[in-house]
Amino acid sequence: MAFSALNIVRSFSSSSVMNLALKNVTVIGSGLMGSGIAQVAAQTGHNVTLVDVSDPILKKASSRIEKSLERVAKKKFHDNEPESEKFMKETLQRLKTTTNTADSVKEADIVIEAIVENMKVKHDLFKTLDKAAPKSTLFASNTSSLSITEIASVTDRKDRFGGLHFFNPVPVMKLLEVIRTQETSDDTYNKMMTFGKELGKTTITCKDTPGFVVNRLLVPYMGEAVRLLERGDATARDIDTAMKLGAGYPMGPFELLDYVGLDTTLFILEGWHEKYPDNPLFQPSDMLKKLVSEGKLGMKTGEGFYKHQK
Ligand code: 3HC
Repeated sequence: MAFSALNIVRSFSSSSVMNLALKNVTVIGSGLMGSGIAQVAAQTGHNVTLVDVSDPILKKASSRIEKSLERVAKKKFHDNEPESEKFMKETLQRLKTTTNTADSVKEADIVIEAIVENMKVKHDLFKTLDKAAPKSTLFASNTSSLSITEIASVTDRKDRFGGLHFFNPVPVMKLLEVIRTQETSDDTYNKMMTFGKELGKTTITCKDTPGFVVNRLLVPYMGEAVRLLERGDATARDIDTAMKLGAGYPMGPFELLDYVGLDTTLFILEGWHEKYPDNPLFQPSDMLKKLVSEGKLGMKTGEGFYKHQK
């Protein structure tokens, strides 16, 4: 039987008997990705604690989650208002927020980190988490481009550490990349794969390599699109139209760049370029750098390659 998110939601929403592999989930970082991960985990019957540094940030995340849940409920339950309300209520009841990082992991079966892409900041966080969490708690990072092995290196639980890489928008995108380092144990890997399925995602496995599968292909592709534009070979609009209608992509590369964030993409490219300077696919283009330096980061700032309503 297909293990769809809808089946999980239906079977879990009215039942307290939920035999989940990893029931208590702590998500650190309540940005777009962290709040999406927390939402999907709560939707599928997990007890979720979402952590960030301040209450106003968490409030913003809660309101983003509520809006997204409304869209999910509308899709799943159409005009069935009572079912829709029940789904929303039960999901939100399973989701709590806190600014106390150490406390948030005391009962966690798994901790998923989705904070800023900075190795030092991640190391500081995982050192704290390693001390505060029970020995059995699994750790995962949702990093887009950093090495999981390097992130895990500061902990004493390298065998209980892996990558769980989600895609934006998390409630919609069906894929979860599960990353195994050389030290991730079979037990951890199997639990993470099961957890992914319980979230209603299709899982694939990748070794701990730059960008794993999706970003390793997607980021150089977006970089090449910018070079095409820089040379004046075609307009951004025409390149987007070409990839949507000629390759069936839901968004063209410039729409996707604006959606993901030009700063995020540049950050990934610059990090890889520094590590692998001879790889021409990782070379950041001047146009991307210029737009980022001008604060044109895409949808989040109202302008990137296109203008957007904020
Ligand atoms: N929460 C809940 N539901 C959402 C949602 C959200 N945040 N965003 C969209 N949806 C739902 C809508 O409600 C709608 O549902 P419906 O089918 O019942 O009407 C459905 O998704 C489609 O949304 P829209 O009608 O608003 O718009 P589109 O049809 O244009 O789809 C899209 C939007 C799903 C974002 C689509 O354009 C898409 O798939 N784009 C590509 C996204 C992508 O490539 N993501 C990966 C980025 S890379 C990444 O994340 C990795 C990281 O490491 C950088």
